[in-house]
Amino acid sequence: MSGVEMKDRYAVIGNPVGHSKSPFIHSRFAAQTGKPVEYSALLAPVDAFVPHVRAFIDADGRGLNVTVPFKLDAHAFASSLSPRAAAAGAVNTLRIDPNGVYGDNTDGFGLVRDIEVNLGVSLKGARILLLGAGGAARGVVLPMLERAPHTLTIVNRTAAKAEALVDQFAQAASGIACRLSGGNARAIEPGAYDVIVNATAGSLEASLPECDDSAFGNGTLAYDMMYGAHPTVFMEHAQKLGARGADGLGMLVEQAAESFYVWRGVRPDSVPVLAELRALLTAPSHA
Ligand code: ATR
Repeated sequence: MSGVEMKDRYAVIGNPVGHSKSPFIHSRFAAQTGKPVEYSALLAPVDAFVPHVRAFIDADGRGLNVTVPFKLDAHAFASSLSPRAAAAGAVNTLRIDPNGVYGDNTDGFGLVRDIEVNLGVSLKGARILLLGAGGAARGVVLPMLERAPHTLTIVNRTAAKAEALVDQFAQAASGIACRLSGGNARAIEPGAYDVIVNATAGSLEASLPECDDSAFGNGTLAYDMMYGAHPTVFMEHAQKLGARGADGLGMLVEQAAESFYVWRGVRPDSVPVLAELRALLTAPSHA
């Protein structure tokens, strides 16, 4: 075997997974560290997550990113969970350790880091409005609360789901004296918010979640977790009302960087990778 360099194996597992940007992002991160890392895309049938993960582990796989529709399966599969994965009820990162499989969720960390570091908006003391109460929303609540915002209002088309999230995180919020409330669009408080995060699946079908125009002001960052070659309908709506819009490409890169850190204990430089990905996304062939 001398002279043959064994590569540490990682992959993203999903269905579909062909258009995932994770192999691109992680190949850039690996190049930065100069270590031999292989990262591929693994397509699994929707009912065959576990056998595919087991086969990957048997082939000496070191870690997996998990995307739609397997984040709940990964949560169930992990033998231990980080607090943020337990709070999210979903896992996007599996690390294969000698004594078991560790499940983590880096999505919320990625969102917070993109907002605070890349976009320069502090969440400490901020008034935050979170639109949506599905898996994407639930995954970001604890990491946002950990930044000690003044207010977190969770609004959802189905009010009961927003109320359930408020109940789930009430204790975490009271520990940092954050005003946590939620329900349907009537739960939105008067006055412009500092940050509005769209965690609904609405952008996929180009529909806007219900949200009073007065929530958007000149000082508002309107963040859509979706991204594309063009601004989303949510971003365009917010920008018309004077707010600053941002899409979720930075969150994608930052959650990947945090996964890389969970696996390898090295924090990659996300900034040049985000710039490169943005340029690729907006290149004429994509537009
Ligand atoms: P995800 O894991 O991506 O969050 P999900 O769990 O299906 O997916 O949640 C989708 C979220 O988008 C929910 O908050 C959903 O609202 P409901 O709970 O009322 O279903 C929201 N959503 C989807 N389409 C929407 C639309 N057209 N307008 C407003 N909210 C929408």
